[in-house]
Amino acid sequence: MAEFRLPKNSRITKGTTHKSPTSGRIKKFKVYRYDPDSGQNPRYDDFEIDLDECGPMVLDALIKMKSEQDPSLTFRRSCREGICGSCSMNIDGRNGLACTTAIEDIKGDIRITPLPHMDVIKDLVPDFTHFYAQYASIKPWLQTVTPEPAGKERLQSPEDRNKLDGLYECILCACCSTSCPSYWWNSDKFLGPAILLQAYRWLADSRDEMTGERLDELEDPFRLYRCHTIMNCANVCPKGLNPAKAIAEIKKMEVERII
Ligand code: SF4
Ligand code: F3S
Ligand code: FES
Repeated sequence: MAEFRLPKNSRITKGTTHKSPTSGRIKKFKVYRYDPDSGQNPRYDDFEIDLDECGPMVLDALIKMKSEQDPSLTFRRSCREGICGSCSMNIDGRNGLACTTAIEDIKGDIRITPLPHMDVIKDLVPDFTHFYAQYASIKPWLQTVTPEPAGKERLQSPEDRNKLDGLYECILCACCSTSCPSYWWNSDKFLGPAILLQAYRWLADSRDEMTGERLDELEDPFRLYRCHTIMNCANVCPKGLNPAKAIAEIKKMEVERII
């Protein structure tokens, strides 16, 4: 797994150790800290958490660190049940959701860093601006040219609806894209596995009528074809999805329309 991206001209410096106020089953966490406004280098802070006083997930530990030891610790979270995608981060070398990663599944001290190869806004909060712009670029909504059927929705057979399974569940957490070496080196032009899975979600939708235009947009040496089947994306997806398969389906559609 790649390192997170250090700010320009900086290096990791020694951080603070926060001791747990109680004794018990103590677990140690090393947490990446960076505040661009401070003018200081990034550092790792050590936190000690009594597992007998903490919920079972890594997010529970982070919330405990913030509420009891250092209120300046910054991370994103919302749903606490693997639905919103906010709490994606690198936990002990693997991208995942803090709210669905159990502390007891990780042996030894736990190192927590932001998602790899993203600019960091503060501590564990990466900058998703470019990722969301790439998402907007694939026009992630139903596009049609035929008139809307009078008095009813655009219908879809159960079989066609089933084709969206394994696609619609994506929560845009970016765990896959930020584990993809091709995305690390070419994220300015390569759309990456998350956005390509979303692009395929609309190509696979029987109600969408812009298939040709969507394929034209993707037909590009960088946007689509920088995927080299490395498969990290499918290995890390916390929702069990397979972006590599979706990318292969897009490539197949590109070939099928010219033969
Ligand atoms: Fe996250 Fe999986 Fe969607 Fe990638 S495909 S953004 S890892 S939910
Ligand atoms: Fe990257 Fe997944 Fe392709 S890891 S290279 S997008 S198969
Ligand atoms: Fe929503 Fe983790 S807090 S996915």
